[in-house]
Amino acid sequence: MITAPKQKNEDKNLDLTLRPQKWDEYIGQKNIKDNLKILIQAAAQRGQPIEHVLLYGPAGLGKTSLAHLIAREMNTNIRVTSGPAIERVGDLASILTNLMPNDILFVDEAHRLNKMIEEVLYPAMESRTLDIIIGKGPSAKTIQLDLPPFTLIAATTRIGLLSGPLRSRFGGIFRLDFYKEEDIQKILERSASLLRITLEPEAKKLIAKSSRFTPRVANRLLKRVRDWAEVHGTGVITTEAANKALALLEIDEQGLEPTDRKIIDAIIKKFHGGPVGLQALAAATSEEEETIIEVYEPYLMQIGFIERTPRGRVATHMAYNHLGLVPPAQGQLV
Ligand SMILES: Nc1ncnc2c1ncn2[C@@H]1O[C@H](COP(=O)(O)OP(=O)(O)OP(=O)(O)O)[C@@H](O)[C@H]1O
Ligand SMILES: [Mg+2]
Repeated sequence: MITAPKQKNEDKNLDLTLRPQKWDEYIGQKNIKDNLKILIQAAAQRGQPIEHVLLYGPAGLGKTSLAHLIAREMNTNIRVTSGPAIERVGDLASILTNLMPNDILFVDEAHRLNKMIEEVLYPAMESRTLDIIIGKGPSAKTIQLDLPPFTLIAATTRIGLLSGPLRSRFGGIFRLDFYKEEDIQKILERSASLLRITLEPEAKKLIAKSSRFTPRVANRLLKRVRDWAEVHGTGVITTEAANKALALLEIDEQGLEPTDRKIIDAIIKKFHGGPVGLQALAAATSEEEETIIEVYEPYLMQIGFIERTPRGRVATHMAYNHLGLVPPAQGQLV
């Protein structure tokens, strides 16, 4: 799964090395940047922390990077945690009571916060108070602690799994979109120069085309192609190096990897083009439902290869053509 945008261990260092350090280095997502700059400036003028921010969108598009940039811009500390890491109310209480005024608390994978934790978060977000219940039964008492002013920045790949009440407590909700190809090219240029890689312009285009419009995938491919170029040549990334390395990784000119092709192949051949439900598709491809939803489907939908209908996933004509198959006659789709 070389192009799966989810962070893998091999990405951790690469993500850190290549993480944009200034607004200018954060390519694309102009609308989000403009909105965030206003939130930040308005807060600064009022002398308050910025409103709580929710960032959502597919993996590897730059949510964590944005959270760090906001902290940098506000000149504040950022405390990083995640939904699954906060298991008990006590965990959250200790994080919150240890915040310094105006700190940013970054909660990644916010859709995995459990209900109990969410309920403690509501008053913390709204009125900066922490309600803690001490004891059990009739002698239980609630004590209320005041918290310092802080900003919660939450990130999720699955906005649909976030509860309504939690969503409604954010002052800014931003959806990250897939990048334009030219933006991915700019990201590749920056990464190549940071990693001291010579990247020929045509090769850059090829890698950009294969990167699922996703910065993390682009950076990972750059590294893999560089490895190929070092083993087979001088390390310079030429068109030939890019072509051969991508072929070796079984990535086609649409950026599809074997699993993507397996998924559209299954929809077409096993389910006559669909519609097919997620469960059946997962069973037919031996992939996990969550992986299909989070990793494969967003990109396949983005490039117009599959569509989601109320009755399930459907393969489009483009998907048939890509596999060299004849699409059914007009009217039979969907
Ligand atoms: N706008 C951008 N400009 C330049 N590089 C970027 C941009 N967005 C992301 N990147 C690069 O992609 C890497 C992955 O981004 P990041 O970790 O912020 O994604 P994410 O949305 O938090 O992913 P996940 O959902 O897996 O947590 C970053 O380390 C950075 O190198
Ligand atoms: Mg992240």
